[in-house]
Amino acid sequence: MKRETTQIGPAQIAAQMDYCMKVHAMNAGMDHTPLAMVDTYGCQQNEADSERLRGYLSEMGYGFTDDEHEADLVLVNTCAIREHAEQRVLGNVGALTHTKRANPNQIVCLCGCMAQEEHVAKKVKESYRQVDLLFGPHALWRFPELLWRFRATGKRVFERTEEPGSIAEGIPVVRQDGVKAWVSIMYGCNNFCTYCIVPYVRGRERSRKPEDILAEIRGLAEEGYKDITLLGQNVNSYGKDLDEPMDFADLLARAAQIPGEFLLRFMTSHPKDASQKLFDTMAAWPEKIAPCFHLPFQAGSDRVLKAMNRVYDRAGYLDKVRRLRAAVPDAVITSDVIVGFPGETPEEFEETMTLIEEVRFDALFTFIYSPRVGTPAASLPDPMSREEKLKEFQRLVERQDQISEEKHAAYIGRTVRCLVDGKDEKGLTARTPGNRLVRLTGGESLIGRFVPIHITGANKWSLFGEQA
Ligand code: 5AD
Ligand code: SF4
Repeated sequence: MKRETTQIGPAQIAAQMDYCMKVHAMNAGMDHTPLAMVDTYGCQQNEADSERLRGYLSEMGYGFTDDEHEADLVLVNTCAIREHAEQRVLGNVGALTHTKRANPNQIVCLCGCMAQEEHVAKKVKESYRQVDLLFGPHALWRFPELLWRFRATGKRVFERTEEPGSIAEGIPVVRQDGVKAWVSIMYGCNNFCTYCIVPYVRGRERSRKPEDILAEIRGLAEEGYKDITLLGQNVNSYGKDLDEPMDFADLLARAAQIPGEFLLRFMTSHPKDASQKLFDTMAAWPEKIAPCFHLPFQAGSDRVLKAMNRVYDRAGYLDKVRRLRAAVPDAVITSDVIVGFPGETPEEFEETMTLIEEVRFDALFTFIYSPRVGTPAASLPDPMSREEKLKEFQRLVERQDQISEEKHAAYIGRTVRCLVDGKDEKGLTARTPGNRLVRLTGGESLIGRFVPIHITGANKWSLFGEQA
């Protein structure tokens, strides 16, 4: 495939840094250090995007706050994957009318996947007058210029370009965490699953160059990051569009050879592209590549999979799982599933139930189908009631909870080398190599270290242990 991606070069990012300086100069006139609040919804890709938005904001002289009342600038990075996420965002943006009334100089920006949807942008323009600046994922790299334009003119800025998408290297990054880091290896998606909005809002699949990715991972390892997740909508099709094509397994093997004590993870994998070579690569670098695999199956019925345009069938999916387990016996396998896809019958739903029995996932992310404007599935007949879908959904969740609990119980008595990754109100948190949450007691000095943990208890969500 020919690479048609626009690469945003150093000169273009340098021009954006000049805009940062201009905004910085405008901020210098204020009587306090301006504060920004970045509110992020949705997936890890959005978290990674927010780290770059924070990078730019920091160059503009902004400090950060979690309190919208004291924020001079609120940046809402949105998710469009399901209606529920959109409603939460609109509710919260609606509430900003009050903070803005108290602080009329507050700047409200909306970006991310919802901003790229035409009908949302229109609605925001007409009914959410408190939003000063709106831009989609394609315009993220031009955020400083857009913000400057608003500051200079006082006129609302709405920037939504329809394009296949670009790759921008060199945007400054302010990371939220000192132990875990996200590295985008590619952007966009070409799969057009019939329920999914992502290809419409994030553009076509495009891969970062391997040298840029590997340099970033090397830098993170040197800074002491211990848990590095490679991100893409479908990491398994990485590299097909490069001038010198390279597959994901080769990229992962090269990343695994970077010196340092850290674990590599990746998400998400499309079953159609998850290759034996990738499973073998994981098996070859067990000390560096975490034995966990997020492999969304979405539905257990072949008819529904076809209607979803998933391009694999149930047997093909189960075969991938079998081969993954043969190569990496202790692999922790997680998945996504949609309940109530338009036209899915109760019998077809039973095939989802039997699939989870056959695979016994360690954890499952379960969703009720949500129609998305402009996707093919949204115009399919959908006779099943919301109540029926909810019942199926609850049955699925309950059964998976039992399976997760049983799987967690099997850890009790074992000693597992875990990464202590942080703390919350309940104490320290750690992760097994397979990314299961472990709660333990101990001093904060353990954070950022790999320690052997003796597992003493478990429930459906987490394991409990003590330092061995
Ligand atoms: N409705 C419900 N779930 C969806 N997902 C994606 N689009 C939709 C939709 N329209 C789920 C899929 C995907 C996960 C990130 O979100 O399971 O893997
Ligand atoms: Fe959406 Fe399918 Fe692409 Fe995943 S692979 S982002 S579900 S279109």
